[in-house]
Amino acid sequence: MNILLGITGGIAAYRAAELARTLTKRGHVVRCCLTDAGSRFITPLTLASLTGQPCFGANPDYHEWRPNPVIEHIDLARWADVAAVVPATADIIGKTANGLAPDLLSTLLLATTAKVLWAPAMNTAMWAHPAVRANVATLKGFGHTIVEPVEGLLACGEEGAGKLADILDIADAVEALAGPAHPSLQGRRILVTAGPTREDLDPVRTLTNRSSGEMGVELARAFRNLGARVDLVLGGELPAPWGVATRRVRSADQMLAACRELWPEMDGLVAAAAVADQRPETFSPEKVKKAEGPETLTLVRTPDVLATLAAEKRPGQWLLGFAAESEAHVPNATAKLRKKGLDAILVNDIGGGRAFGHQANTLLPVTAAGPGEPLGPLPKDALAQAVANWWGDRLG
Ligand SMILES: Cc1cc2nc3c(=O)[nH]c(=O)nc-3n(C[C@H](O)[C@H](O)[C@H](O)COP(=O)(O)O)c2cc1C
Repeated sequence: MNILLGITGGIAAYRAAELARTLTKRGHVVRCCLTDAGSRFITPLTLASLTGQPCFGANPDYHEWRPNPVIEHIDLARWADVAAVVPATADIIGKTANGLAPDLLSTLLLATTAKVLWAPAMNTAMWAHPAVRANVATLKGFGHTIVEPVEGLLACGEEGAGKLADILDIADAVEALAGPAHPSLQGRRILVTAGPTREDLDPVRTLTNRSSGEMGVELARAFRNLGARVDLVLGGELPAPWGVATRRVRSADQMLAACRELWPEMDGLVAAAAVADQRPETFSPEKVKKAEGPETLTLVRTPDVLATLAAEKRPGQWLLGFAAESEAHVPNATAKLRKKGLDAILVNDIGGGRAFGHQANTLLPVTAAGPGEPLGPLPKDALAQAVANWWGDRLG
C-alpha cells in the first residue's frame, strides 16, 4: 500500500523515523513529506534512507516547492492510499480543519481523496485548548481517523495527555484504515479469544501453558483489517492491539464469563485461546509450604469455553476453532469439529515444538466437507491474514 507520511514540527518528529521504518518493513511504500518546522527536528536524509523513497516538502537543497515536471501536491495526493500525519502539530490540525494550504503538506491534505489519519502530539494544555478540540472534532467530521495521544511524561516536563501514541499502534491504525474490507466481514462483530489462561494454586504459583497468544492477537488484527468490529478476550501479557476492544482475563472461568457476556451480540467466534483444561481443586490464599515426602496436587476440569458458546449459539452465528495436534491431525480435528459443533477448525501441527514462538507456521483448515488446502507456512501475521481471508471467502 502507498503511505504518505506527513511529519510536522513537534518534538515527537524523531519517532516518525521509527514509524517510517516499521511500515516499510511491513511491505508498504512510504513517502515522507516534511513541513519546514518538521525539518528542524528530523532530516530528509534520515527519512529517505529509511524508506528508500524521496522525501518531499521542506528540504535544505530545494526548500518547499521544487521546479518539477509533475505538480507535486496533486501527484502525491493521488499516489497515496492513506495519508498519515505523525506527529501532527496543533498548527497542521488547525490548517486542515479550516481549509488552509500554505505549504506542500497542508496543500496535499486538501487535495487528496485518500483516507487521512492523524496522530497528534503536543503539550497537555495545547491538546486541551478549545480551539484544538474544535479543530479535531472538525477533522473527525470529515471522516478522518484520530489516533489519540496518550498520557505520560512530555518532553516539556509536564505529565498528562498529549504524548504521541505508541508507534506500533499508529502503524496498526494505518494498516487498518487503508486495507480493503472483506465484503462478508465488513461491519461484522467478531469475538476472538487469545492467549493462555492461568490457574492459580496460591498467590505465587500458577498452572499455565506455553501459548504466547501471538496468533490470536494477529487474528484479531487481521479480522479488524478486513473491516470487522472485533472484541478480544485476552489471557497472558501481550499488549492489546489498536482498534480492538480488549478485555483481559486470567483464568478459564474469567474467560468464559467475559465471552458469555459478549457472545449474544456477536456474528462469529474465533477461538484461538489456549484455555487450560484443568485447574487446582483449591486455591490457597496463603503460599503453600513445602512438605516432607511426595506431594499431590488434585486437579479438576475447567469449563469448556468453546463448547459452552457453541451450545448457546443462535441461528446464523458461526464458530471457528483451533486444534493443536501432535499426531492423527485430521481424525482428531474432525472429531473435535463434530463434538463441539464448530463450523471449521484450523489444525496446528505442534509436533517437535512447532507453532509456539515466532517461527513460520502452517494451519490445515478442516470443515464438515473434510480437510482443505493448508494455509502457510507463513509468519503469524501473514498466516492470520490468510485465515481471515479464507474464512471471509467461505462465508461469502
Ligand atoms: C522545540 C519546539 C517543540 C515544539 N513541539 C511542538 C509539539 O510537540 N506540538 C505542537 O503542536 N507544536 C510544537 N511546536 C510548535 C510548532 O513547531 C509550531 O507551531 C510550528 O509552526 C508548526 O509548524 P508545522 O505544523 O508546519 O510543522 C514546537 C516548537 C518548538 C520550537
